[in-house]
Amino acid sequence: MSAQRIIIDTDPGQDDAVAILLAFASPELDVLGLTTVAGNVPLAQTTRNAKVVCELANRTDTRIFAGCDRPLSQTLVTAEHVHGATGLDGADLPEPMMPTQATHAVDFILETLRAEPEHTVTLCTLGPLTNIGAALRADPDTMRRAKAIVSMGGAYFEVGNITPAAEFNIYVDPEAADAVATSGIDWTILPLDVTHKALTSPDWIVRLNGLNTPVGTAVAGWTGFFERFDVAKYGSSGAPLHDPTVIAYLIAPDLFEGRRINVEIETASPLTRGMTVADWWRVTDRPANALFIGSINAKGYFDLITNRLATL
Ligand code: RIB
Ligand code: CA
Repeated sequence: MSAQRIIIDTDPGQDDAVAILLAFASPELDVLGLTTVAGNVPLAQTTRNAKVVCELANRTDTRIFAGCDRPLSQTLVTAEHVHGATGLDGADLPEPMMPTQATHAVDFILETLRAEPEHTVTLCTLGPLTNIGAALRADPDTMRRAKAIVSMGGAYFEVGNITPAAEFNIYVDPEAADAVATSGIDWTILPLDVTHKALTSPDWIVRLNGLNTPVGTAVAGWTGFFERFDVAKYGSSGAPLHDPTVIAYLIAPDLFEGRRINVEIETASPLTRGMTVADWWRVTDRPANALFIGSINAKGYFDLITNRLATL
């Protein structure tokens, strides 16, 4: 079976970094490029961080394209309170040397979808959907050549993590998320309802350090840093490892269960901006526009990540 061709749109972020490493360690996937977006930290930092991850994995052949430095219409909100000032706090890694491509991320996405056979490239989004929303505004017909969009974002039963109503990635750019929700493109959502069932643990950090590799040590350090926020907030023993769920879904979909339902994005209300209004119980006749994932085999998830990272 040929490898799935993917573009990873990302705002590293420690959890983004683990997702990118998992993708590099998975022969089922062919990473055509990384596109960076402002989110956890500003664009210059997310772009730098993407390079740090590529050099850590010895994947300096990866093409990195910088994207939008602010949401389509909202003021940028970042999350240094979770990820630290660099966005990759927790591991001491060298300043990256690899280049950023001259092409803008939005142009790279559109040029790739025009050049590749229709419905063969999957867009994996790990941050705010700004680049995707900008591409949809620029050329919706080309964007509909994408095989699918698989996104970490949103929440329903878990409610919000940046406001009482909204998850961070959707909250930062609800207009972009609305563009995806109304695009007609096959959309799979990995929301907080899933990621909050996939908590890191002290045992997992021990397993990572036990790999005795630069990747294992870095991921252990990142995990130890970013979980402190969620442990303090939720009183849990670990933190949700959000973004690798997108990659794990592509390589091991049987670890997940969900429903095809209607999901709409609140863009008007200051109180509930960025809320994903998921019709989980199908109480409306709104058309199903997304596969909304609700459950995960957490042991299988962490085993998959650990076993794959061990190969880097
Ligand atoms: O709400 C969690 C999401 O916001 C993750 O993608 C994390 O990296 C941040 O971007
Ligand atoms: Ca992210």
